[in-house]
Amino acid sequence: ALGEPLKVMISGAPASGKGTQCSMIVEKYGLVHISTGDLLRAEVSSGTEIGKKAKEYMDSGKLVPDEIVTDMVVSRLSRQDARERGWLLDGYPRSYPQAQSLEKLNIRPDIYIVLDVPDEILIDRCIGRRLDPVTGKIYHIKNFPPENEEVARRLITRSDDTLEKVKLRLQTYKQNAEAILPNYLNLLNKIDGNRTREVIFQEIDSILKKVEENSSSSVQLA
Ligand code: AP5
Repeated sequence: ALGEPLKVMISGAPASGKGTQCSMIVEKYGLVHISTGDLLRAEVSSGTEIGKKAKEYMDSGKLVPDEIVTDMVVSRLSRQDARERGWLLDGYPRSYPQAQSLEKLNIRPDIYIVLDVPDEILIDRCIGRRLDPVTGKIYHIKNFPPENEEVARRLITRSDDTLEKVKLRLQTYKQNAEAILPNYLNLLNKIDGNRTREVIFQEIDSILKKVEENSSSSVQLA
């Protein structure tokens, strides 16, 4: 492509389908997927200092302190692969100070996608979610059961996917989401996330195609 590599932010409540859509976007567009939840869970499971601090916040459904998360994201964004292939930022910014940190560094996306899903569905999606620790694939006991027994046997449940913790995470999301929107109003694309993952992806795909076309035509004009 003639244009700059794509820069995408994806947001939405817990279990709105961010991770699921990100893996489909990555497969087609080759962007570098930066998920703050995944980065933090990796720190927790390798028992680092950051992981030890982050765990108590994650387990109580609260946001991990901004400095910790912002340092992680900024250093990941500045790596060469992200600059060359473009990036897909999942779960960040999640608070007003986080959004301001990016503004200060002049880091802006081409598009800001929000997945919109009703609360009662979010809760069912969280409770039924299972992860494959080998492939990183996201399953759901009813919606997307594993392909075979071997995969089924190794699936794990996230420690914050209990009913009680999901409610706290949802509350945290609602307290913070509105504060970020003004920064990205002109880039905002709210998408109905209560449809099949294929239909949702089709819509995201057509939005990203348009963004790519616009950026390559503005390069040609320049
Ligand atoms: P994070 O990992 O980001 O969790 P989250 O925002 O709660 O989002 P989830 O990962 O739960 O859901 P998702 O939207 O990716 O949905 P998924 O595709 O898996 O953050 C975890 C914690 O880390 C936070 O609570 C916080 O403590 C900390 N943290 C992270 N970022 C931070 C930040 N910036 N600042 C401070 N702290 C931070 O789908 C969910 C389920 O639904 C799956 O089972 C899936 O199979 C199913 N599903 C998906 N799509 C569909 C569909 N279309 N139809 C039916 N089922 C579907």
